[in-house]
Amino acid sequence: MLGVCYYPEHWPEAWWPDDARRMREMGIVFVRIGEFAWSRLEPSRDAFDFGWLERVMDILGGAGLKIVLGTPTAAPPKWLMDEYPEIRPVDEQGRAYGFGGRRHYNFSSDVWRSESRRIVERLARHFGQHPALVGWQTDNEYGCHGTVFSWGADDLKGFRDWLRRRYQTADQLNEAWGNVFWSMEVRSFDEVALPAMTVTEPNPAARLDFWRFKSEEIVSYNSMQCEIVRAHSPGRWITHNFMGFFNSFDAWKVGGALDFASHDSYPLGLTETFLPTEEEKCRWAETSHPDIAPFNHDLYRGIGRGRFWVMEQQPGPVNWAPWNPVPKPGMVRLRTWEALAHGAEVVSYFRWRQAPFAQEQFHAGLNLPGLHELSVGGREATVVGRELETVGVLPETEQARVAIVYDYEAIWALRVLPQGKDFGFSELVFRWYEPVRRLGLDVDLVAPGAPLDGYALVLVPSLPIVPQATVGAFEASEAVIVFGPRSGSKTPNCTTPANLPTGPLADLTGARVTQVASLRPGLKDAVRGEVSGNAVRWREYVETDAKVLGRFENDDPALIANGRSLYLACWPDEKLLASTMRYAVQEAGLEVLDLPEHVRIRRRGGYTFCFNYGGPDWACPAGAKLVLGESVVKSQQIAIWVI
Ligand code: GAL
Repeated sequence: MLGVCYYPEHWPEAWWPDDARRMREMGIVFVRIGEFAWSRLEPSRDAFDFGWLERVMDILGGAGLKIVLGTPTAAPPKWLMDEYPEIRPVDEQGRAYGFGGRRHYNFSSDVWRSESRRIVERLARHFGQHPALVGWQTDNEYGCHGTVFSWGADDLKGFRDWLRRRYQTADQLNEAWGNVFWSMEVRSFDEVALPAMTVTEPNPAARLDFWRFKSEEIVSYNSMQCEIVRAHSPGRWITHNFMGFFNSFDAWKVGGALDFASHDSYPLGLTETFLPTEEEKCRWAETSHPDIAPFNHDLYRGIGRGRFWVMEQQPGPVNWAPWNPVPKPGMVRLRTWEALAHGAEVVSYFRWRQAPFAQEQFHAGLNLPGLHELSVGGREATVVGRELETVGVLPETEQARVAIVYDYEAIWALRVLPQGKDFGFSELVFRWYEPVRRLGLDVDLVAPGAPLDGYALVLVPSLPIVPQATVGAFEASEAVIVFGPRSGSKTPNCTTPANLPTGPLADLTGARVTQVASLRPGLKDAVRGEVSGNAVRWREYVETDAKVLGRFENDDPALIANGRSLYLACWPDEKLLASTMRYAVQEAGLEVLDLPEHVRIRRRGGYTFCFNYGGPDWACPAGAKLVLGESVVKSQQIAIWVI
């Protein structure tokens, strides 16, 4: 169940056999290679050099390792960029990015697509049947370094074609976008401009459509790679390594072409970059926030239709956050077990050996820079390797009782029309996830419109655009459903619904929103009733005939119960959120625990896993038969038990 990311092209060939042997000794079974090696695979056009990759694959395979081959499209080589400079992505001001980093390509360039096809096909034909090859990774982290968007000639052409297909006539486009406002009307699709570099904000409907267009470009680009690989590499699976909290394309849709999803798990890096407050960043700096990796495990397990890998697991400090601490002792081991607890089939560390050169020289590996000597993370991974031998095969992951709806269009719609500076979808969803995990519950993240059978509680932190199929899925569900602010607040064209928010959810929520207020930091509105706490950031003015469970200071409804649906008309602070979740889980009839801030529980089949993310000891429940660890779980330690 362990793997590693290996860059044989970084090390002398004489080291490869020893590296392979040492990997096996540690209990590593899978090795991902090749995803940045284009300049070595094709040093000049059509001058392919596959010999070295064949030799290393033979060595790795000979040592009993199974190989995952990455298509090398995330780093097109210099000669190709010089030949076709139009491949480069362009910023909003029309400046093309230069060579010297990576991901310097544009998904909307036809030349780039044909170059990608060419290299992927050559590789798939040549290596597709290699006996040690078990699977493929397409590209590397779509969207990394903010590379979903590009604002050049190819983007404009592609966008206009996409709009033609969507709206057929310019009149229908004008109507859909509300272009009569500020005389934005166009007479033909050729008059449409990219929604950037306008004096004030561009039309949000145009921005949302541009986002959809760009997301679909990634979906089709990935599918193209998958088709080529499948044609030439039968019997091998395909995955892609998504990155946590990359939200600029629809990963549910990219995932549709894959056999399963993978993601790259950098909990310390994400604690530093994702958490909003200095206080939280400091509290969790060296252990990472308890929910930050699990949230992404649960999301990508959903995207992989129940199957996922961690393709890159943080082995020590990273290099890319503003500050990069060393994880506390035990955390590399803990994070590995945590991923497995959430259903990961394989946890693969990034990277085998720290590079003493180039951009990532401060990024830890399982081995010290340029040496044959394990790092702290490498030693902890070795411990997991041994423990896995004792624990044996883990039981299958089962469906959770709680689902959270995670929608990419929601992210984009809230971004193009924020109305309050700090109303962000990912943070809101993450905040809803936390108290549920504090209650000891397992969570699945699901796509909007997915069937909701088997869930007792469904959380919809915010879902501005609600297609009819999604309404149908909510109506068909027997779960208690909690809708959060701004749900049903926009039509697919990013306009206000004729019946006002909650639009298509009105029958379910019983709520009609007549005004909204965003609240700057420091402002709040107290909520009292069966739930209590404060509205912060956002508060709605709602009319309802349904039951009111909580009211704002002026007596307006804050939490509304309509049959088995609840509608929360604000961004809740921690207290209000916790009491709302407690109310909802009780309504849903779920048994809960009260976990301290630093402890989490996760079940995989009959096994219960417990993690202490840095804090006082935590005692396992009476009657727990330990599979691993001790009955008192100390700081940075784990335990597994069956009851
Ligand atoms: C990932 C990326 C890797 C490496 C790593 C460093 O986002 O896929 O290639 O850069 O970050 O943490």
